[in-house]
Amino acid sequence: MKESDFKHIPVMAKETIEFLAVKPDGIYIDTTLGGGGHAEKILVKLSDKGKLIGIDQDGEAVIAAKKKLAKYQKKTIFVHDNFKNLELILSELNVDKVNGILLDLGVSSYQLDNPERGFSFKEDADAILDMRMDQKQKLSAYEVINNYSEEELRQIFFELGEEKFSRQIAREIMKRRREKAIKTVNDLIGVIKSATPPGYRFSHRHHFASKIFRAIRIEVNHELEALREVLPQAVHRLNRGGRLVVISFHSLEDRIVKHFFREKKNEGVVDILTKKLLIPTMEEIALNPRAESAKLRAIEKII
Ligand SMILES: C[S@@+](CC[C@H](N)C(=O)[O-])C[C@H]1O[C@@H](n2cnc3c(N)ncnc32)[C@H](O)[C@@H]1O
Repeated sequence: MKESDFKHIPVMAKETIEFLAVKPDGIYIDTTLGGGGHAEKILVKLSDKGKLIGIDQDGEAVIAAKKKLAKYQKKTIFVHDNFKNLELILSELNVDKVNGILLDLGVSSYQLDNPERGFSFKEDADAILDMRMDQKQKLSAYEVINNYSEEELRQIFFELGEEKFSRQIAREIMKRRREKAIKTVNDLIGVIKSATPPGYRFSHRHHFASKIFRAIRIEVNHELEALREVLPQAVHRLNRGGRLVVISFHSLEDRIVKHFFREKKNEGVVDILTKKLLIPTMEEIALNPRAESAKLRAIEKII
């Protein structure tokens, strides 16, 4: 896949920009730079005095975003890191408080569509099970599938994937891997097929393996932990009137965000701007089906 193939349509872009209420001279952080879609929408609103700090833990995303956003070079700082290190990143940049922070969670279309990254469950995929967003990281999907215990696998599939055949799939993985390692995306799809009744494959709107793949991805990248870690840091680094916008794609992520926002509201630290969570319009979903499960929540710091 070439860098020019780095395509990702920013989800709920209009709503995101409205809630961030971008001030031309402000400092903004896009903690999930991805294809640079949201970042560009922020950058066009910034004056030469404004700054955007763009973070992604995926080195390929940072390289592609640097190219895409080259004309905004003077007002952009690119950082290849995990957003869970937000406080450290800002301290190293000598930045104290900022006007707005965006978290657009999950994976980019580029990561999903690039077979070499092992995120996709398209059946033609001979890719090695990988799913690491940060390629420097050790833990990969291969390790999870071939080294975790049956109980750990069952739990991940059940809790992170909400998969009703979690037990059967975990058991089948143990059986297969006693014969030989489960190496490729195809191998894993084969295991899921063997562990589930034939009708199950056709009873979903989505691919029957999607829940298992999503669960493994969340585990490999410690996505829920990173989210829990970044939220308090983000609120701490907002100045008074600063905005935090979070777009999530999984009910577990949304629950973490919702509870955190409520807690901060009760402490009198923030106002919740989205009394009800926001979801994409039918028109947006028709144009970009990957927006389907998006949920947007936003707060404003008031102290
Ligand atoms: C949904 S995409 C963002 C797309 C982007 N908003 C756009 O408009 O192009 C999510 C991105 O966040 C990155 N990401 C996910 N978790 C991260 C984390 N903990 N730290 C840093 N980057 C992360 C992924 O590598 C991916 O590139």
